[in-house]
Amino acid sequence: MARYTLSALLAVASSTYVAAQSVQFPATPLANKHFAYPSGVPYQADTDTFGRGPQFGYNQCNSTTEGSNSLCQTAFMNHIDDFCLWAPSKPNSTIADTEGEELAWCTKKGRGTRIIPAGALKGVQLIKTQQYWQFAGFIDQTLLNLQSDDFGGELDPHGQDLRGNPIGGLVYSNSLQSSNSTFDQITEWNSFIGGGGFCFTICPDSGTNPGGYCRNTLDRLGCAVNSPNNAQSGTFEVCDGALKDLPGVYTTNGQTITYSQPDESLGPITTLPFTVTTPSSSNCITYQSSEIYTDLPQPTGSASLTSSGASPTGSNGAKSSGSAASRSASSSRAAVCASVEQGRTDAMV
Ligand SMILES: *[C@@H]1O[C@H](CO)[C@@H](O)[C@H](O)[C@H]1NC(C)=O
Ligand SMILES: *[C@@H]1O[C@H](CO)[C@@H](O)[C@H](O)[C@H]1NC(C)=O
Ligand SMILES: *[C@@H]1O[C@H](CO)[C@@H](O)[C@H](O)[C@H]1NC(C)=O
Repeated sequence: MARYTLSALLAVASSTYVAAQSVQFPATPLANKHFAYPSGVPYQADTDTFGRGPQFGYNQCNSTTEGSNSLCQTAFMNHIDDFCLWAPSKPNSTIADTEGEELAWCTKKGRGTRIIPAGALKGVQLIKTQQYWQFAGFIDQTLLNLQSDDFGGELDPHGQDLRGNPIGGLVYSNSLQSSNSTFDQITEWNSFIGGGGFCFTICPDSGTNPGGYCRNTLDRLGCAVNSPNNAQSGTFEVCDGALKDLPGVYTTNGQTITYSQPDESLGPITTLPFTVTTPSSSNCITYQSSEIYTDLPQPTGSASLTSSGASPTGSNGAKSSGSAASRSASSSRAAVCASVEQGRTDAMV
């Protein structure tokens, strides 16, 4: 059994999967709601009136909603030049405090969302596989309204009450079609943002195991376990990738075991009974950010004032008790937050 020491950072703060005591569930979980884009998209995907909520924003987004006041919660994951991240509505927020309310911040104008400010994306890697597409990279998260030292957490269409985080958040992609004007709803996806990085994986319904590749119950383990990647600060690239192992699924003594994370009350997760490998990638195409991100506005005053705090490499280890120690303790690049090897820095949140 391969055991290795994990950085305390694996305890990525998130309340996405809080032990449910008396949670009331919706008649139809968010992940089971299907809406054709754009004609079938309702004003709000979540109309429940109990428990959390109501839905913070809306799903019908148009030219009048676009920009810095948008409350659009419909995200698009199309290509390296055309994708969105979930982030808070107000500056200096944390994911833990706002997970139910995140908004779509996107690289392209035209769909009624907020637009990611220039300078926020520090490096992005898109890995394309037959089963999922994985976007990962480094960000100046203060430009996306996150506190500079927020470790963030997981967003996914399930959440503690199956209403999603954000509640009612919808994801679409045109990447599965030959035409960029046809969008498929992505019902299984997960996204981690915080610690100076992000990963956002979409697992189309056409795959063999969308819920397995976009597993939503390892929210304390971040990108390192859920979306192992070798994104690099300063590099914008699209690659074909080999399939990752199903997150948390491993074989020992001929037996296949599905790992479950311990409850947060049991303290930080310091070891895992399996090793995470970053799958190989090939056919990488590199882009200049200036040529692919042509719609990004300059950051607004308040955001730029706070923008000095986060750096893609510097903030990863923050709060997590010195990543240097955990770096040397681990032989697996993907297991640590920011292992710098041969000039390559792994994105991990
Ligand atoms: C634009 O979207 C907003 C928010 O969903 C909605 O209230 C408004 O009616 C829409 N406007 C048009 C012209 O469709
Ligand atoms: C951000 O929030 C933290 C915690 O609430 C606070 O200490 C800090 O002063 C705030 N920073 C800014 C720039 O508002
Ligand atoms: C679709 O979008 C991608 C990237 O956004 C672009 O490279 C491609 O040329 C577009 N295809 C068509 C047919 O417009």
